[in-house]
Amino acid sequence: MVEVSTSILSVKKGEESKTFFALETAKTDYFHIDVMDGEFVEKNTYQSMLEYASYIRRISNAPLDVHLMVKNIKKAVNDFSAVEPNIITFHLEACENEEEVWENINYIKQNHCKVGISVKPNTNIEAVYQYLPYVHMCLVMTVEPGKGGQSYLSEMTDKVRTLKTYIDDNDLEIDIEVDGGINLRTAPEVKKAGANILVAGTAILNAVDYKVIIDELKTGV
Ligand code: DX5
Ligand code: ZN
Repeated sequence: MVEVSTSILSVKKGEESKTFFALETAKTDYFHIDVMDGEFVEKNTYQSMLEYASYIRRISNAPLDVHLMVKNIKKAVNDFSAVEPNIITFHLEACENEEEVWENINYIKQNHCKVGISVKPNTNIEAVYQYLPYVHMCLVMTVEPGKGGQSYLSEMTDKVRTLKTYIDDNDLEIDIEVDGGINLRTAPEVKKAGANILVAGTAILNAVDYKVIIDELKTGV
């Protein structure tokens, strides 16, 4: 079953609470919280995402899908655990070595949270294989992380298909989430390739009716 995780990165200033209530009413499956530290990526959304996540936690029971685009993963896990996220995803590329990847996986689990591992477009998917049996989700970035409103990188479809084949061949039970440029045009091909959680920001926040667009992203072929 395909789920939709709405990225709140591009929420219009001054319309935050109205938007979050409308997304709760539209039954988004997750709120996707894009945490950027100004180091791993250029933008810094750290404080605003912490405030938004705290607010959403108070008005909605929808799970929080925290996407860490940060270098200091442990600090972010400490800070964002306060909003009781459903899952915290970190970037493989933010880790110096394999030992640090294992440490982050265990640290997130010790904080009673599911673990996601993410790869940027230029990272080979094989680089995450060894960690997959120990995480709950793999987030395949379909744009370069750092900002919303970018176009889907079509070569990522094959990457998702390769990951899905590996997961099936190894009887693994993990979600494949895709993030960046997902809309009614790109969703069908990436779902067909094997993605089962779609992150969308612009496509949803710019829509007239959130429920309609969320349902269409899920069901569109
Ligand atoms: C980019 C973020 C994405 C982005 C998605 O670094 O991780 O979640 O906000 O936004 P759209 O759907 O507009 O590409
Ligand atoms: Zn994201």
